[in-house]
Amino acid sequence: MDRKLLLTYVIAAIAATGGLLFGFDTGVINVALPFIKQEWNLSETAEGWVVGAVLAGGMAGSLLSGRLADGLGRKRINILAAIIFVVGSGIAALATSPGMLIAGRLFLGLAIGIVSFSVPLYLAEIAPSNIRGRLVTFFQLAITLGILISYLCGYAFAGYENSWRLMFWAGFIPAALLLIGMFFVPESPRWLLSKGRTQDARTVLLRLHETEAVDRELGQIEQAMSDERNRKADWRELFSARLRIPLLIGIGIFFIQQFSGINAVIYYSTRIFGMAGFGSSTTSIMATVGVGVVNTISTLIAVRFLDQWGRKPILYVGLTGTAISLATIAAAFFFRESISPDLLKLLSVGGVYVYIMFFAISLGPMGWLLIAEVYPLRIRGFATSMGSFYHWFFDFWVSFTFPIMAATSLGNNGGIFMIYTGVVLFGLLFTRFLVFETKGMSLEAIEERWK
Ligand code: GLC
Repeated sequence: MDRKLLLTYVIAAIAATGGLLFGFDTGVINVALPFIKQEWNLSETAEGWVVGAVLAGGMAGSLLSGRLADGLGRKRINILAAIIFVVGSGIAALATSPGMLIAGRLFLGLAIGIVSFSVPLYLAEIAPSNIRGRLVTFFQLAITLGILISYLCGYAFAGYENSWRLMFWAGFIPAALLLIGMFFVPESPRWLLSKGRTQDARTVLLRLHETEAVDRELGQIEQAMSDERNRKADWRELFSARLRIPLLIGIGIFFIQQFSGINAVIYYSTRIFGMAGFGSSTTSIMATVGVGVVNTISTLIAVRFLDQWGRKPILYVGLTGTAISLATIAAAFFFRESISPDLLKLLSVGGVYVYIMFFAISLGPMGWLLIAEVYPLRIRGFATSMGSFYHWFFDFWVSFTFPIMAATSLGNNGGIFMIYTGVVLFGLLFTRFLVFETKGMSLEAIEERWK
């Protein structure tokens, strides 16, 4: 591999640590909560907040981050997020009361909200266009790795005293690594140019991209900005008729991603396996670790093939597979009286694994990829943060309604999974009529579409 490409990958890996923290701090609650409840006898509301604080923080962080990234730059905002991660992990791990734990989780959510927007944006802006899909998908890969690591920590620390504190301390390590690492990566060349720092932008591009391509790239980026630099971006422009389609793509992809029920599985898989008749929680936790493994491995496949296959074909395959597996889970619960308990277990666990596999090659990475690439540079900061806000908003609703719905007949008769199936089918129409192929296109060529 040539040196510049290798350097680009190393930088991408450092930035993607933000994704690892995203995955870790959202996933860890699945395994930590039972132990927290043992220590503190939490009320239902307190429990809701311990889970939901991260999602609420995520909403706030993603809203703040747009302005910050355009003002501070893509590098400094990631440093800021890393500091908040370090502080939040410390507060959560040392918490002496539920209130303090919730405060720590709010901090963590704030940082997750920031990186969920700033990292994909940064990755898209440093990447040569032929591997942009792959680099941005590093973010999703890091999220899935973070989730897997959190499940494994849950499994490893479960037997210890203070187990949940150990789980939160484990999150401190990647936070510190991100903080140190971010000092060594370059600023985004596109952001530098938007501030008129042409020479700095050229230096970064020369370090990362093929020398012959740099002048052409600089020209394209400047061209895309020239008529726009002096006008200030604001929210009104984002809602203008010209940008209606990219706006709909950004919100729609996260609506479909979240209402396909992904985080019902990621946050509550142990409970779903329990509903399917797994008696002991150890077996359910082991099956949950399996979810983490399938998720990570399938995302690796996506990283490898995304730029080769293109965005739309991957979405078609992924959505079809997700719909079939969700419908299978729904059917297994619906016919639970007439099938054997073993078949119910097989169909529900198998269905969840196949579901995760198809999700991970398609909807998982595609959400973050599309919001990082479909908007014009001048309002990319704004628009991307808005897309990520919707992620947390929808995530919040799915995660809060799942336990409530699971306790009603919709839980027993598979109705919840039928609802998720319907959303995924809608996703096929969405892909057909709204999403367009961006494979191999430069960000500036994509921008041309909205002129
Ligand atoms: C995507 C989703 C996130 C989910 C994860 C699971 O990143 O945006 O909400 O938890 O995939 O792998």
